[in-house]
Amino acid sequence: MRIGVLTGGGDCPGLNAVIRAIVRKAESRFGDEVIGFMDAWDGVMEQRTMTLDTAAVRGILPRGGTILGTRRGGPFDTADGVERVRKSFEDNRLDALIVIGGNGSLTVGSLLHEQYGLPIIGVPKTIDNDVVGTDATFGFQTAVQIATDAIDRLHTTAESHDRVMVVEVMGRDAGWIALQAGIAGGATAILVPEVPFDIDELSAVIAHRHDRGRYASVVVVAEGALPKAGTLAIPDVAVNQYGHHSPRNIAQLIAPEITKRTGYESRVVQLGHVQRGGTPTSYDRVLSTRFGLAAVDAVHDSAFGQMVVLRCGEIARESMSATRGKIKTINLDLFADVSATFFG
Ligand code: F6P
Repeated sequence: MRIGVLTGGGDCPGLNAVIRAIVRKAESRFGDEVIGFMDAWDGVMEQRTMTLDTAAVRGILPRGGTILGTRRGGPFDTADGVERVRKSFEDNRLDALIVIGGNGSLTVGSLLHEQYGLPIIGVPKTIDNDVVGTDATFGFQTAVQIATDAIDRLHTTAESHDRVMVVEVMGRDAGWIALQAGIAGGATAILVPEVPFDIDELSAVIAHRHDRGRYASVVVVAEGALPKAGTLAIPDVAVNQYGHHSPRNIAQLIAPEITKRTGYESRVVQLGHVQRGGTPTSYDRVLSTRFGLAAVDAVHDSAFGQMVVLRCGEIARESMSATRGKIKTINLDLFADVSATFFG
């Protein structure tokens, strides 16, 4: 078989490990040929490819980023995009395309399969862990570890100065990184997009803590967290064609409000793309490898329109269409339990 591979959307640690596993299994177990499309769907439409064989994937297991490059956007953004994708399938004699992507790329993959019959298999990725249908995406655990390490470091400097550190982590629509890194790092409070926060309540918790003689508060805030309606003015930001808003810099907005209400000095730390860069943790390398191996089986089973997923520790399959227009949000019971127990 001839199998194409692309990586789409924001990058994340583990993409190269998936590519390596696909190539190694396809080549050695099935005698397949694998080609990589550069820069996501752009490479499919423009027929920019690279040969993916054992030599091409040597040494990439621990490398962050993606050797194929990645972009946002896809064939539905232009009038002739789908036609160009179909032509590319023909010209490159593709028997299957493995799309390694988040909600956006998997949605495109599912539509191309359903509406045009293209043989596509999905592999869910994103540091945000917000893809419906899988217990976890690779890259997430690495991002949580990076954020946890940062929070640990911030505790000591915050303590020395009796300061409030407001740490902003990624998570536009779901607060998975904030929740997990906040729990692991012993945060004073965690703010997530799923549960609007009250700046007065938050400030009261912080003031109470410091008044009791505790030094250092670390507030972990997901970039998509928002205040309860009418409690704090948030400037409007632009929303792009994919419904993604520009960064609001929420930590920058709330830190001075905390200082105003508590009298304690606050500082902002935006972790940003540090969370997406560098080598994957061993957990993510293993998950990526399992996803890559399973994706090749899915191709050979003609399970097109499906993505490989993790369910209760086992690799399973789920329709890519399950991701369309949906976001996997955090476990609200856990959030409530952690908040009630540790914050206050
Ligand atoms: O890939 C997901 C993500 O990391 C989000 O958490 C974040 O909002 C977004 O990507 C940032 O995207 P970009 O790299 O395009 O600024």
